[in-house]
Amino acid sequence: MCGIVGAVSARNIVPVLLEGLTQLEYRGYDSAGMAVIDGGLKRLRSAGRVSALAALAGENNLNGNIGIAHTRWATHGAPSERNAHPHVSGGIAVVHNGIIENHQAIRTRLISRGYEFTSDTDSEVIAHLIHARLEHGDDLVGAVRATVSELEGAYAIAVLRDSDPHRMVVARMGVPLLLGVGAGENFAASDASALLQVTRNMIYLQDGDVAEITVRDLHISDAHGKPVERAVHVSEMSADAVGLGPYQHFMQKEIFEQPGAVANTLEMVVNAQSLSPELFGVGASAVLSKVDSVLILACGTSYHAGVVARYWIEAIAGIPCNVEIASEYRYRDPVPNPRALVVTISQSGETADTLAALELAKSLGHEFRLAICNVAESALVRASDLRFLTRAGPEIGVASTKAFTTQLTALVLLTLVLAKQRGRISTDRERTLLEAMRHLPAALSHVLLVEPLVKKWAGRFAKSEHALFLGRGIHYPIAMEGALKLKEISYVHAEAYPAGELKHGPLALVDRDMPVVAIAPGDALIEKLKSNMQEVRARGGELYVLADQNAHIEPSEGMHVIELPDHAGILSPILHTIPLQLLAYHAALVRGNDVDKPRNLAKSVTVE
Ligand code: F6R
Repeated sequence: MCGIVGAVSARNIVPVLLEGLTQLEYRGYDSAGMAVIDGGLKRLRSAGRVSALAALAGENNLNGNIGIAHTRWATHGAPSERNAHPHVSGGIAVVHNGIIENHQAIRTRLISRGYEFTSDTDSEVIAHLIHARLEHGDDLVGAVRATVSELEGAYAIAVLRDSDPHRMVVARMGVPLLLGVGAGENFAASDASALLQVTRNMIYLQDGDVAEITVRDLHISDAHGKPVERAVHVSEMSADAVGLGPYQHFMQKEIFEQPGAVANTLEMVVNAQSLSPELFGVGASAVLSKVDSVLILACGTSYHAGVVARYWIEAIAGIPCNVEIASEYRYRDPVPNPRALVVTISQSGETADTLAALELAKSLGHEFRLAICNVAESALVRASDLRFLTRAGPEIGVASTKAFTTQLTALVLLTLVLAKQRGRISTDRERTLLEAMRHLPAALSHVLLVEPLVKKWAGRFAKSEHALFLGRGIHYPIAMEGALKLKEISYVHAEAYPAGELKHGPLALVDRDMPVVAIAPGDALIEKLKSNMQEVRARGGELYVLADQNAHIEPSEGMHVIELPDHAGILSPILHTIPLQLLAYHAALVRGNDVDKPRNLAKSVTVE
């Protein structure tokens, strides 16, 4: 869960490395470092953000035609300069993203051979192993290949050797790494956003690949050491998509991009009168008609999307649906139902727990697998036969926003396709629902207009240490998502409860210091929710209610109400998400937090 960049050129590559790291900071941002060869290996590292490293590079006049760089999210060892990458051994410098599971055994062995360790990381063993292989007489590529064959776990690495100043060697297994093909210069990075500044031509390395990169050439060999050609893709990612534009923060930009992101995700159904199963990939029709249930596997916000989908799938398509947190499922002994459709949901498609859960499902004989994902080239998409790509565009803010609403959009489409195949919805109903979907981007734009009202609430939440979020039915997972957003960026402790559960315990927490958010759509459960809200008021709790117009909830003492402009029927959870995202965003701003890079977190959780 770190970002790496490498460059080989005839020009000074330090600015390219720094810009690349800045783009990759979403992957980790607790320390950074780089190494270049300029008449010898020069390494700079610093705790903190890439900006601190940039200042250091300026002070030291760092220059070079070849270099590697890293932005870190600590797993083994505290975020400090000594643990920052690159790690060196003799004239070798290495940057690493991933986790080396057998590092302790390798470390013990290397220490007994006289190697000294200067960091607490798992990554440092890679530098020493490569050094040992070079001493043994291997060339750099051979040493890297021999080294990675000893590693258990996941890695993307880039390696430099001071006595070989025109060559960089990279390798990957289990975490992303791509090459950028420039004119008279070549690059490597964890993702395309780091390289858009220099090229659009990208080669996605596959697991087991090792590549040797010089100014002129790229030589790739596969897991068996056989030379291979990998296709060059022209990235369609626009530089605007990874820039801030007129916004102050990526999270803000991404919240406001939601109408467009949902419209893009719906592009394939915009003019359709009816839905085709093939939206989910070639052969989806046959697969979806065979399944008798759905098993959703995901983490965090993507898991919440899955919990919402369970309500849709069971109520509309009429088939059983289970939703599991991937990090739990992967270590259970679940009883598999081979006729279940396994749906993985992920923004990044690189989340280690979700990938491992999918692997387990596969090993248990689950043949029907669909990925709902925002990154076309990701490991998750590659490991799934059926796929639906959400078209949210790059999501950079660590707190997931537009990925969530586009995942929900995809899950409605899946529900409708399953329902249609089972004869559960009439043609008229299908048409009406499609119409509602087409209206969704406009409805989202209307809901965004509540921002000034939500902003007024944010100060209260920013001052509080705790908050409760209540919802019922399909809006309970939306309450969970609201609580997650608030805690991850404002650091206010927030809990979500199904409102009917209040009296079974959490009501004891409610007093005048506990702001309580209630999600109050005008649905069948609204009268029940109103009773639960009374339970809160009776204990002095202050309510912040997000209500549909037809919920008929009037503001009063201790009861603040924002009415959402559009009532969207089954799509209501998607609309109710927006004010919760805005609440977390503004509360975090009031608290002076770094909303795009909250403490202790990173965007892609590619390690366990
Ligand atoms: C919360 C958030 C995380 C992710 C989770 C899964 O705002 O972003 O909870 O949702 O780490 O990530 P993906 O969707 O990339 O698998």
